[in-house]
Amino acid sequence: MPKRSLSCQTDDYVSIIGANSLLVTRATQALSEDTNTLQSPQAGCRLGDGGVHVWRTRRHWSPAAITRFRDLLSSEERAKADAFHFEADRHRAIVGRGLLRHLLGTCLNRPPDALQIFAGQNGKPELVPALDAAPVAFNVSHSGDWILIALAQQRAVGVDVEQMRSGMAVLEIAQRVFSEAERTGLAALPAAAREESFFICWTRKEAYIKARGDGLSLPLGSFDVSFRATDAAQLLATRPDPGEASRWTLRDLPLGSGYHAAVAAAGSGWQLRQWHVDEHDLFEVCVMPTQSADSKRIRSGSSSELARKPR
Ligand SMILES: CC(C)(COP(=O)(O)OP(=O)(O)OC[C@H]1O[C@@H](n2cnc3c(N)ncnc32)[C@H](O)[C@@H]1OP(=O)(O)O)[C@@H](O)C(=O)NCCC(=O)NCCS
Repeated sequence: MPKRSLSCQTDDYVSIIGANSLLVTRATQALSEDTNTLQSPQAGCRLGDGGVHVWRTRRHWSPAAITRFRDLLSSEERAKADAFHFEADRHRAIVGRGLLRHLLGTCLNRPPDALQIFAGQNGKPELVPALDAAPVAFNVSHSGDWILIALAQQRAVGVDVEQMRSGMAVLEIAQRVFSEAERTGLAALPAAAREESFFICWTRKEAYIKARGDGLSLPLGSFDVSFRATDAAQLLATRPDPGEASRWTLRDLPLGSGYHAAVAAAGSGWQLRQWHVDEHDLFEVCVMPTQSADSKRIRSGSSSELARKPR
């Protein structure tokens, strides 16, 4: 079981960054043995450490929180979210992009609603880099209850989460989306182990594809990943350039039963830090921001618009 620690329990501060911002999280929970303990509200956003930070949240936030997140979105992002037929999908899109903007704004010390996010080649969302800051890469994935956001400075990053479904024709799907080595290896597993290995393989592959940003233009059979539950996440082989495999590192992200998730990032030796954030953390103190509310610091525990709910 990953070690789980709560930090910033007393004497916390939150800060408001620019106009129309959400508040910096007070008690974001650090997960796993790889994490730091939060020493300040900004600690989770110290991307300068060269690590890969993965933030996770449940998709269900209150209507008040969704309204605040929606206010952070660009008109295109709002239109994209509004186009979903089901309310649950609209809300998921708003929470995913709103929280992404919030985290990026916090890390970069900029108003989240002023960040410019564009679709790069093959549709991968990217941030217009600030002239005075190192480029920050990010990637988002969602499935079932979870939304995951990976952030890293100066290294490409991709993340994927999948809710496991049972009864899928995994060997048939593998014929279309896995490499020959992966297909053969999956078929050789005992039937009971195949389903889990399928999702492990899928998320590791997808994280790599998303880190590269190639989308479906990268042939899925042109690289092999490890896929047994007992094998560490690894990009084993790449074709036609075998050297590509050593330029990336994959890691699994434990999410609990019913889910598999993985992150891929350029380079090696980077540290993985995982953070859990929910509404109680983000909205503990809520002061209506104004255009002049630039970089104020206020003590946690003062007036609250969105009251803290009992845990
Ligand atoms: C676009 C793609 C990333 C969709 O992935 P998905 O698993 O359906 O969905 P996820 O929730 O993981 O990711 C969606 C997010 O990825 C991001 N994204 C979009 N295009 C991307 C690209 N080319 N590269 C990386 N990230 C991309 C977006 O942020 C998107 O969320 P948003 O639209 O709310 O901003 C694409 O890789 C795809 O279609 N993959 C399926 C390929 C496949 O068949 N894989 C088999 C397993 S190997």
